[in-house]
Amino acid sequence: MQKTVSMTVTESTLGYSVDRKEESPDVPEYLRETYWWAYLHPRAVKFFENQWIVNMILWGNFSRLRDMALDEMGENISGRTLQVACVYGDFTPKLAQRMAPGARLDVVDVAPIQLENLQRKIGKQFNVFPDRQNAATLSFDDATFDQTVVFFLLHELPADVRAATVREAMRVVKPGGKVVFVDYHRPVWQHPHRYIMKPILKTLEPFALDLWKTEITDWVPDDFQPANIEKTTYFGGLYQKVVLTR
Ligand SMILES: C[S@@+](CC[C@H](N)C(=O)[O-])C[C@H]1O[C@@H](n2cnc3c(N)ncnc32)[C@H](O)[C@@H]1O
Repeated sequence: MQKTVSMTVTESTLGYSVDRKEESPDVPEYLRETYWWAYLHPRAVKFFENQWIVNMILWGNFSRLRDMALDEMGENISGRTLQVACVYGDFTPKLAQRMAPGARLDVVDVAPIQLENLQRKIGKQFNVFPDRQNAATLSFDDATFDQTVVFFLLHELPADVRAATVREAMRVVKPGGKVVFVDYHRPVWQHPHRYIMKPILKTLEPFALDLWKTEITDWVPDDFQPANIEKTTYFGGLYQKVVLTR
């Protein structure tokens, strides 16, 4: 029922449709079923790859949320950094700009079209390495990265994929390294957007309300419990940054 609603809304809003089964047959089913209109269709990439649109989706908070995620990693980021999943807008270009000499940025995404889009955006950069991987089953060795960032991915994942993604993000970071999550959060009860966002998320992003009900730390498995946890909420609690130190 939810899917039917989201199909109708997005097809009429964006003016395109696609046979979801044939498009990107090798990406996870939830992406094909729920998010084809946002991430898999070529016209979706064209439509959403606009700074003002991503900013509007986040109620004007994109730059602020981007910068607080980046600031958590520093102005001059050294060592090896992992970005889990591509993001529309200038998140990755800005992250790449902060790489110190000799540092390396790996960006993984499960959708080939998103990696192609990223490549177009960043051009040839010798220290940025896009790679096709599923966040839930990363191919990197344990403790490969000095820091990892997961920007607005968790709310798009079904529960089992989300738990696996949090585990993988912790596994691949070195002891003492940070994992920075930025995502939705339950706003304070008197927040005016609360009553707008609930039906929007319920209709278009069926897994997102889990972030309203559960703490990100609840998805960290026992074998990767963080040495330190910092949680900050923003914009009346609608967004959160959670920094876990392994
Ligand atoms: C980071 S999230 C959304 C970020 C934000 N809403 C934006 O403006 O782009 C979207 C990306 O996650 C990717 N993605 C979804 N599930 C994934 C998974 N299991 N592994 C890797 N990438 C995934 C999608 O292909 C898409 O490129």
